[in-house]
Amino acid sequence: MSASSPLHALLKTSRYGRALRDLDVCGSTNDEARAWASSPTDAAPDGAVVLAREQTRGRGRQGRSWHSPPEEGLYFSVVARPQLPPTIAPLLSLTAGLAVAEACSVFLPAPAQVKWPNDILFQGKKLGGVLLSLSASQGDRCDFVIIGIGVNVSTPREHFPEALQDVATSLTLAGGRAASRYEVLAEILSALEKRVDLLVEEGFSPIRDLWRARSATLGKRVEVSQGEQTITGRALDIDEDGTLWVESDKGERLPIVAGDVHLLDV
Ligand code: BTN
Repeated sequence: MSASSPLHALLKTSRYGRALRDLDVCGSTNDEARAWASSPTDAAPDGAVVLAREQTRGRGRQGRSWHSPPEEGLYFSVVARPQLPPTIAPLLSLTAGLAVAEACSVFLPAPAQVKWPNDILFQGKKLGGVLLSLSASQGDRCDFVIIGIGVNVSTPREHFPEALQDVATSLTLAGGRAASRYEVLAEILSALEKRVDLLVEEGFSPIRDLWRARSATLGKRVEVSQGEQTITGRALDIDEDGTLWVESDKGERLPIVAGDVHLLDV
């Protein structure tokens, strides 16, 4: 815990970020947060945050790695303890993506968007992502959820791996106003706390409306990769469970609960 972190002076939240581990370097903040949340003697409270200046084994969705060079991005994980069943996970994942996009938009010249399930895009390029994992030993209730968030803050184009240079962006590259990692983090934590509380109090319906309005996916031609299988079609909508519905080129309406969505007509 570091009560003197520059983050505390900026926080606008009641819970998120008050308990903070501000690390210089770690493998993955998701692993650090999980260990803290599971501690028998000093378990992380709801809203506890593990932040790292650099990750050596940052993970992305679908088994990918997350490029985490020192200082250029935000790499952090939030421990959430919603009093809800584990089925909340996909909805929390969409909610977190929405909150990150809302917060990043404060610094950008135009709104950031969300791509199902939880990529944060600016003008079609990836600005950030969310990796969520859940612990539910009782089966019917979450013990905790780890919401891992990565945002490219000041990464210059040439610092991204070559394969990402045309598809990734950072707040700086996108023409965002200058801000420190802590300012961006404080904004994200504030949006995240607000949106998770809305989800818990009012259910997914208001989040779904906000997500739809910020979506880069709906109405677009998409290619969905699910392991070996690929579906091409048009993204129709997300339902009350967070499932993406796609109308395939063969005219079938298909529910997508996992996989990667590529936008074909950006
Ligand atoms: C994605 O693939 O879009 C999700 C990326 C999530 C990256 C963040 S960085 C902080 C946290 N720790 C990790 O190892 N991953 C997440």
